[in-house]
This record gives sequence, structure tokens and C-alpha cells, in this order.
Amino acid sequence: MNTKKIAARAALAPAFAIVNERLNQTGAREALLDRVMGDIRFRRASNRIREGRQAAIALAAQNSSGKLIGTVQLWHVATEGPQRTPLQGALLLGPLAVDPEQQGRGIGAALMQTAIGEARGRGFSAIILVGDPEYYDRFGFSASLAAKLAMPGPFERRRLLARELVPGALSDISGVLRAGFESPH
Ligand SMILES: CC(C)(COP(=O)(O)OP(=O)(O)OC[C@H]1O[C@@H](n2cnc3c(N)ncnc32)[C@H](O)[C@@H]1OP(=O)(O)O)[C@@H](O)C(=O)NCCC(=O)NCCS
Repeated sequence: MNTKKIAARAALAPAFAIVNERLNQTGAREALLDRVMGDIRFRRASNRIREGRQAAIALAAQNSSGKLIGTVQLWHVATEGPQRTPLQGALLLGPLAVDPEQQGRGIGAALMQTAIGEARGRGFSAIILVGDPEYYDRFGFSASLAAKLAMPGPFERRRLLARELVPGALSDISGVLRAGFESPH
């Protein structure tokens, strides 16, 4: 989205803010994900990396009344097996979702840009996700950077995308993704 378009949309729409998700917003976040994605999110390969764990970064978009209208979470991720170079300090992003009545106002872009900034600020090396390249390429994600990676379950190769935060962070990395524990800080 270009700057003019973002400004035009912002002028028409009431304000929203991107904040760190609070403990008391978990219910609202899950209700939003149920509405936007339904149960399929629990059957995706990414869920094997998320299940039973706490997100490394969880952001909420909220409107001027404090209602949660968007969400994004990022999870520690590593690679499985005896690689010569282990994947370190990387995050798996998802799910990303915006209230259907609020879509097209730049909330998804604001969540993505804040998530990338937060991950970089905390010293993470790369972000990986499964999603539509037609949406995520505007945030610098590409399938070529994720070409040597695989999900721990069925996935579409064209939708496995990555973005480096540290140049070259993924260049020698290959393998199947699994839950990671390490945190750069
Ligand atoms: C994807 C999603 C988070 C975007 O949120 P949003 O607040 O509407 O995003 P923005 O306002 O920043 O951007 C809207 C733009 O993204 C485009 N877009 C949205 N989803 C897209 C997709 N899957 N593929 C390509 N473009 C997409 C819109 O057409 C719009 O384009 P425009 O700027 O040319 O008008 C939201 O549509 C959503 O929650 N979708 C359902 C859940 C989902 O599919 N999440 C994962 C995405 S793969």
C-alpha cells in the first residue's frame, strides 16, 4: 500500500493502536481467530510449533475503546536434525488476523511492521511464516529465502516464506522447523 493510500484510509477511519497483548486479551484474541479462521488453525503444520507454548511476541491492534481488532503472534523456532549450522534466534509468525469489519484500513500492515521492528529490536535474526506471498512480499518476505526449510507437516512450498533481519542469517540453514526455545536476549 502506498503512503497516499495509507493516509487516505487513516483520515477516514477512527484511530487504532498496536500494543503488546495483555493477559486479559487472550479470550478476545481467540474469539477473533475463531471468527476469522475457525478450527483450521489448529490443524495446520504451524500449530505443531505453537501448541502448548507461549508466544515470544504477541501484539494486539485495538480501537479507541480498547477493543481488540487485530492480532499477530510470533514463536521461537529452530530446525530439526544434525545441521552443520543450526537456525538460531528465529521466529515463526502467525496467525495474523484482523476483524473482518476493520480490514483494508492498514491494521494488518501496522501489525506486521510493528512485529518486524520488535523482532529486530530484540535481536532476532529472521522471521519465517506460512502465508500468501501476494500479501507478505510487501513486508520483505520471500519463498526463495525459505527454499531449504520445511514445515513439520503438509505445507505449500510457495507459501513458506522468510525474511532475514540479520543479512545472511538464513543462507546456510536447511531442515524441518520445530519449536525453538532460545531467545537472543
Ligand atoms: C490478511 C489480513 C490480516 C490483512 O489485514 P488488513 O488489515 O486488511 O490489511 P491491510 O489493510 O494492511 O492491507 C490490505 C491490503 O492487503 C490485501 N490483502 C489482504 N489479504 C490478502 C491476501 N491473502 N493476498 C493478497 N493480498 C491481500 C488487500 O486486498 C488490501 O490490498 P490494497 O492495499 O491493494 O487495497 C486480513 O485480511 C485477514 O485477517 N485475513 C484473514 C486471515 C488471514 O488470511 N490471515 C493470513 C494472511 S495469509
